[in-house]
Amino acid sequence: MKINPTIKTILDHKSIRKYTEENPSDEIVESIVKAGQQAPFAYQCYSLLLSRNRKRNPWNAPLLFTICIDLHKFERIMAKRQWKLIINDLALLLLGIQDASLMAENMVVAGRSLGLGSCFLGSAIWRAEKIAEEYKLPKRVFPLVQLVMGYPAENPPTRPRYPLEFTLFEEEYPKFEKETISRAMHQMDSGYLAQNYYRKLKAKIPLDGTRKETFTYDDYSWTEHISRKLGQWDPDPNNLLEQLTKRGFDLTRNRLKNPEDSE
Ligand SMILES: Cc1cc2nc3c(=O)[nH]c(=O)nc-3n(C[C@H](O)[C@H](O)[C@H](O)COP(=O)(O)O)c2cc1C
Repeated sequence: MKINPTIKTILDHKSIRKYTEENPSDEIVESIVKAGQQAPFAYQCYSLLLSRNRKRNPWNAPLLFTICIDLHKFERIMAKRQWKLIINDLALLLLGIQDASLMAENMVVAGRSLGLGSCFLGSAIWRAEKIAEEYKLPKRVFPLVQLVMGYPAENPPTRPRYPLEFTLFEEEYPKFEKETISRAMHQMDSGYLAQNYYRKLKAKIPLDGTRKETFTYDDYSWTEHISRKLGQWDPDPNNLLEQLTKRGFDLTRNRLKNPEDSE
């Protein structure tokens, strides 16, 4: 495998959850945001919110970015050209996620290249309306994900990833052998166990009662953790739809077929 400074920066990535007192300068913030913007885009239907309120930011980090899907700006530009959006909101949401994710990861890499650590927070989608109130967001702007940043006060090891054979499928998706699945699980689990990751975080997810606990922190690792999370957590999808609706997104509306719905 070839390594150069860019690839090294990317491969050195680790989420940081402890930050020093140092505040990144405006110049640093500008570089990170500009690097984010320079990611490829299809429509640029995103916006970035920034809070430097350390006291309120997770882990008292100096920077908290909220990455939003933004159809508002888009509609303002189209209105100036006497156009109205016709494409449906579901497509726009997915297209927006594509663009916003590329921007967000460029920011992570740019931050790391300047000595900053970061950590994403996935809870924004459940708190969209609260975030909207906080930042006075207009309708049609939906907070997608948050990104905490600052100078690291910890240096954890990099966390494992699936093996290449479980990630890259050339020309055709394979029929997995049991051994391939086991190797992928082993790579993840042994990697996290070697770091004592869940023991240090005391992050074992309790079982819901129908299963008997057999795991200790000696063998509780990533695949068990993720199975417990996605196998027991059952948030109501209507809550998410409600968050989107409150932000002015209607995921089922077909504007041309239902012109009577148009505002
Ligand atoms: C969309 C997204 C949401 C995340 N949400 C959280 C979160 O709420 N809390 C947290 O501590 N880490 C969160 N993370 C960080 C992941 O836990 C972390 O990236 C993953 O464990 C891999 O570790 P690494 O980033 O150190 O390689 C999130 C990551 C992503 C991409």
